[in-house]
Amino acid sequence: MCGIIGYVGEENATPVLIEGLKRLEYRGYDSAGIALLHGGEISVTRSAGKLVNLEQLVERNPQNGSTGIGHTRWATHGRPSEQNAHPHRSGNLVLVHNGIIENFISLKHRLETEGYRFVSETDTEVIAHLLESYMKNGCSLQEAMRAAEVDLHGSYAVAALCVTEPDVIVTTRSGCPLVVGRNEQGSFLASDVTPLLVHTREVVFLEDGDIALLTPSQISVLGANGEELTRETVTIDWDAEAAEKGGYDNFMLKEIHEQPQVIVDTLRGRYNYETGEADLPDLAMTAEELIAARRIWIVACGTSWHSGLVGKYLFEEMIRKPVQVDIGSEFRYREPMIQKDDLFIAISQSGETADTLAAAREAKRRGARVLSIVNVVGSTMARESDGIIYTRCGPEISVASTKAFTGQIMALYLLALHVGRVRELLSAEEGRWWLDQYTALPGRVESVLKLEPEIKKIAEKYYSKSNFLYLGRGINYPIALEGALKLKEISYIHAEGYAAGEMKHGPIALVDENMPVVVVAPRDRLYEKTVNNLMEVRARSAPVIAFGFEGDEELQRVADVVIHIPAVHPLLTPILFAVGLQLLAYHVAVLRGLDVDRPRNLAKSVTVE
Ligand code: G6P
Repeated sequence: MCGIIGYVGEENATPVLIEGLKRLEYRGYDSAGIALLHGGEISVTRSAGKLVNLEQLVERNPQNGSTGIGHTRWATHGRPSEQNAHPHRSGNLVLVHNGIIENFISLKHRLETEGYRFVSETDTEVIAHLLESYMKNGCSLQEAMRAAEVDLHGSYAVAALCVTEPDVIVTTRSGCPLVVGRNEQGSFLASDVTPLLVHTREVVFLEDGDIALLTPSQISVLGANGEELTRETVTIDWDAEAAEKGGYDNFMLKEIHEQPQVIVDTLRGRYNYETGEADLPDLAMTAEELIAARRIWIVACGTSWHSGLVGKYLFEEMIRKPVQVDIGSEFRYREPMIQKDDLFIAISQSGETADTLAAAREAKRRGARVLSIVNVVGSTMARESDGIIYTRCGPEISVASTKAFTGQIMALYLLALHVGRVRELLSAEEGRWWLDQYTALPGRVESVLKLEPEIKKIAEKYYSKSNFLYLGRGINYPIALEGALKLKEISYIHAEGYAAGEMKHGPIALVDENMPVVVVAPRDRLYEKTVNNLMEVRARSAPVIAFGFEGDEELQRVADVVIHIPAVHPLLTPILFAVGLQLLAYHVAVLRGLDVDRPRNLAKSVTVE
């Protein structure tokens, strides 16, 4: 959940580390720190709170050094405090760590009997002392790292430097992401590519167990016996500018507005209009294999789980396959009756979510084919899957996911079309019809974005309420869940998403004039039923905020306020409604004066369970 960065080269490391940490801050932000090696001494500067606190400390007390490591933390063991902030020191070395050391208590006892004194509450400190103890017995930093790996249970990405080995950073990973790259000014490491893009586009994603040695002029990746490994260099074509706010007040708003482009990018080059087919070369599954797949499993967490639920309605209707959707943490600890030949789809923006990864590994172990829908190129999930559909959203910085959700649903649309054509459930003409609908979506999302002033007015009216209920049916039931999740994530208002038909079985007891009810009501075959639910809500004096189709006058009669989105095929409504609900949550949070990009207690990438 934390972000790590490292630099060894010819320049002053401080700005490289601070700038890098700014780009990693979305991974966690309760404290931060850097360590620099200079003239045989290590200086450590750490601060609790947001990165700006560290920046001010560093400005007041500048440190020199062209070898350095940095860290932005999201607490797992030990409170957010300066004492628990990384880097952690032992003797002549310092290190930063992302992940969790599960056996840290037993290691701590062992190290205490060796005479080490612990000054933090973190699990990380055991790694520092462990390395120090191996070095005291004659190991180099790299050898100590290899030896320590045998002792450590859990997940980690670690970067360390040491006074006795100047101009070197040693880094390794097990279960947490780590990427390295270099340019003429030196070598860099980070938890993901975002901070590296301003320095280089050629990067190497390390694998579990790799140890990388970074010096100003080279990066060597070493295997278990110290042998040099060749790891593929990947060219990242994300624009470094894409990670900036680009004129918007914050990343969330920028990312909401990027959604038309995300749809264009995710579709680009992936269909053949002539044949009415989707073209997904990285799927790594033949038509026969797709036909043979008896059941589809979709596993994900958070917002990605909601796109998985949309996938269920889509697949069942478009390709007539049974679909089971699970939350990562539930799937991994059940006895899922997944079989060989089943198709398992993992959905993840980051490609690093621990529970989704564990579920995908479990599915693989049971013989299923694993296909992932992932945004981050080269992420662990992408590398471990049999097939992949990248969502091409570019970096999503705001913790609350918006554009990644849209990219995931577009990927599911492409997959549904592909399987539908392969199974001959759809003719070429029908395929073309769907492609016309898909390619018209960016313009329709633009139309929803233009409704922002109206949506903002709704936010102004209701932002001080304490509870919201979101209702939807069918393929828009997951959109009700997602709308409620967005609101609670960034505005801290209690919000519940419910299947409209389930309202009578509980939530209606909560409904009164203080509980705005947001309803997603397209003109589909369930429309009348949803309107009936609204009457019930209305009868209990609750304010009704309805999202429906253009030209739907009837909705006006049962709602206090209506937002009219373009009328489309029911299966294509989720993205349009989701964009409207994202804007509603966004403006409520802004009106409440909150930091929408960095909501309290949440992290962008949850790499521990
Ligand atoms: C965290 C994020 C959510 C995200 C979820 C799954 O909880 O705050 O926005 O939906 O993780 O992340 P993934 O990267 O697997 O999509």
